[in-house]
Amino acid sequence: MMINNSNTYHEPVLLQESVDGLNIHAAGIYVDVTYGGGGHTNEIAKQLKTGKVYAFDRDVDAVENEVGNKKVEMIHHDYRYLKNFLKYYKAIPVDGILADLGVSSHQFDNAERGFSIRSEADLDMRMDKDIALTAKKIVNEYSEEKLQDIFYHYGELFNASKIARAIVAYREENSIETTEELKRAIASCTIKSKEHQFYAQVFQALRIEVNDELGSLKEMLLQSKDVLKIGGRLVIISYHSLEDRLVKNYISKGQFEGEPEKDLYGNYSVPFKTIHKKVIVPSEEEIKRNNRARSAKLRIAERVV
Ligand SMILES: C[S@@+](CC[C@H](N)C(=O)[O-])C[C@H]1O[C@@H](n2cnc3c(N)ncnc32)[C@H](O)[C@@H]1O
Repeated sequence: MMINNSNTYHEPVLLQESVDGLNIHAAGIYVDVTYGGGGHTNEIAKQLKTGKVYAFDRDVDAVENEVGNKKVEMIHHDYRYLKNFLKYYKAIPVDGILADLGVSSHQFDNAERGFSIRSEADLDMRMDKDIALTAKKIVNEYSEEKLQDIFYHYGELFNASKIARAIVAYREENSIETTEELKRAIASCTIKSKEHQFYAQVFQALRIEVNDELGSLKEMLLQSKDVLKIGGRLVIISYHSLEDRLVKNYISKGQFEGEPEKDLYGNYSVPFKTIHKKVIVPSEEEIKRNNRARSAKLRIAERVV
């Protein structure tokens, strides 16, 4: 398949704000855990003299898109193995980690990948084409309870039980092979005039399950404090509330749920401090230029202990 150049592969979101957030110095070691079209990686590399960027992506298309920049080391793996790979490359401790979560425009616009509600395609949704689980397997093989759980927790759909029931009823007659067949199976669960949002949430839920997106994110966040220098930066761009909640809680409380223990002075003893009190969002001008930036939220933190 023809791989596009960086700009058409994916338009980077909050590029300046996020790269500035890394506080780059020319000899530093940085990690971009979501290479995609390389927008952020290349911007980091431009600011380095003797430094290096380690770039992860679990999608072979992204890895093949890298043009051989000597300052970039590509790692074709899930970023949940961040610490292991950095150990292997003897790169610990690093000066900064950047993550631009979710799928790239290349993945989304490539109809055959099955991510988009707009194109008829096989129900796939794998970022890494070597994993066994696909969206087709989930809708045809998961129990009604498990489907309900996914739509409720990952799609935040109030009628998750109705959707799960509709899928199970449909598949008693026919297996669900394509994006359009899935939409037909659950058409009775949509709310008029909100169909687009409804299907987008259903697809998001399946995508999160297929790629265990929240599991990878948690693993990477937990490892970030072990691989960053004191003073090193953690920069995360997220695109929905499930991701952002994990990032926000981890940065402010050092854990994903509940309240951590306080020290003698009543403060949380956590590895990070937030650099900006308010979450950073794209300007209106950026959203006008790139509609996919509209839900982006940027959080920047510094390792303090
Ligand atoms: C939003 S895109 C990144 C775009 C990139 N910042 C740019 O400007 O071109 C997200 C990328 O992260 C990759 N990705 C998502 N989850 C991953 C994971 N757990 N491990 C490795 N790569 C992942 C996807 O395959 C996708 O290419």
